[in-house]
Amino acid sequence: MTVPLIEMRNISKSFGAVVALRQVSLSIAAGEVVGLVGDNAAGKSTLMKILSGVYTPDAGEIMLDGRAQALATPMDARGAGIEMVYQDFALVPELSVTQNIFLGRELLQGGLRSKFVDKAKMRERATHWIERLGLRVPPVDTPVRATSGGQQQAVAIARATAFDARLVIMDEPTANLAAAAIEKVRAAIGRLRSHGVAVIVISHRIEDILETADRAIVLKHGAVVGERRIEDTRGDELVHMIVAGRDPRDAAAGGGDGDGAGAAADGGAGGSAPP
Ligand SMILES: Nc1ncnc2c1ncn2[C@@H]1O[C@H](COP(=O)(O)OP(=O)(O)O)[C@@H](O)[C@H]1O
Ligand SMILES: [Mg+2]
Repeated sequence: MTVPLIEMRNISKSFGAVVALRQVSLSIAAGEVVGLVGDNAAGKSTLMKILSGVYTPDAGEIMLDGRAQALATPMDARGAGIEMVYQDFALVPELSVTQNIFLGRELLQGGLRSKFVDKAKMRERATHWIERLGLRVPPVDTPVRATSGGQQQAVAIARATAFDARLVIMDEPTANLAAAAIEKVRAAIGRLRSHGVAVIVISHRIEDILETADRAIVLKHGAVVGERRIEDTRGDELVHMIVAGRDPRDAAAGGGDGDGAGAAADGGAGGSAPP
C-alpha cells in the first residue's frame, strides 16, 4: 500500500476538564475524499483545527508523506499544503473577491522585493481558480459583501485551493446554502479529487458525504466510533452510528467492546464484514 498523504496517530486533546479527543487516528490519501461525521461536540472541528495548525495536540503525532510533521501554527499547515475552509467562510466583506483570495499572499510585480501588487495577474488567477472548481465566477472586483452565500463559499474554497493545496478541509461547506449552491460545492469537491487533492468534509448533511466521499469516519464523544467505505454503507447506517455512538457490525461480530471491535472495523473497510 502506498504511504498516506496525511496520517494522524492517536491524537488526544483536552480543554481544561473537557476531553475533546481521545486517541483519534485518521489517514487520507492524495485524491481521496473523507467525510467526518458525528454529533455536536464529537470533536470534529477540534481534530481539523489540529490538522490546520490552530490547536496543538496534547498527545499523538501527525505524519505527512510518512514523515513526522510539526503543525504548530496555521502557517506551518499552509506550508505543508493543508488548507481549511471555515464554516463562516472567514472572508473580509469590504474587500473584493480577488483581494480575499490573495489576502496575505498578494502577488507582487517583479518579485518579492516589490511594493506593487500585480492586480491584473491576481484577477486572472482568481478567475482561473474559481473556474477550475466549476464554480460560478462572481465578478472578481466585486466586494464580497455584495455576493451571494453560494458565491462566498466559492471564494472561500478558491482561496483554500489556490497555491497548490494538497489537503483541503471543509467544515460544514453546505450549511446555509441553497440547493443549487450545494450541488456546486459537491461538484467542486469532485473536481478537487480529480486534481489529486485530498479533501476532508465535515457535514451534518449525510447526502454531502454519500455524494462526495470515498470513506466516512464517525466520531462521538471525542473517539472514533467506526469507519465505512461509502460503497459499503448507507445513510441510515451512518446516522445510526452517529446517534448510537457505536458500530453495529461490532455487535454482529460478537466482539462487544473488546478486541473484536478493531477486527470488525478493519473487515468493514475491506468489505468482509459479517452479514
Ligand atoms: N476552544 C475551546 N475551549 C474549550 N472547549 C472547547 C474548545 N473547542 C472545543 N471545545 C469542546 O471540545 C468538544 C469538541 O468540540 P468540537 O471539536 O467543536 O466538536 P464538533 O465540531 O464535533 O461539534 C466540545 O465539548 C467543545 O465544547
Ligand atoms: Mg464543529
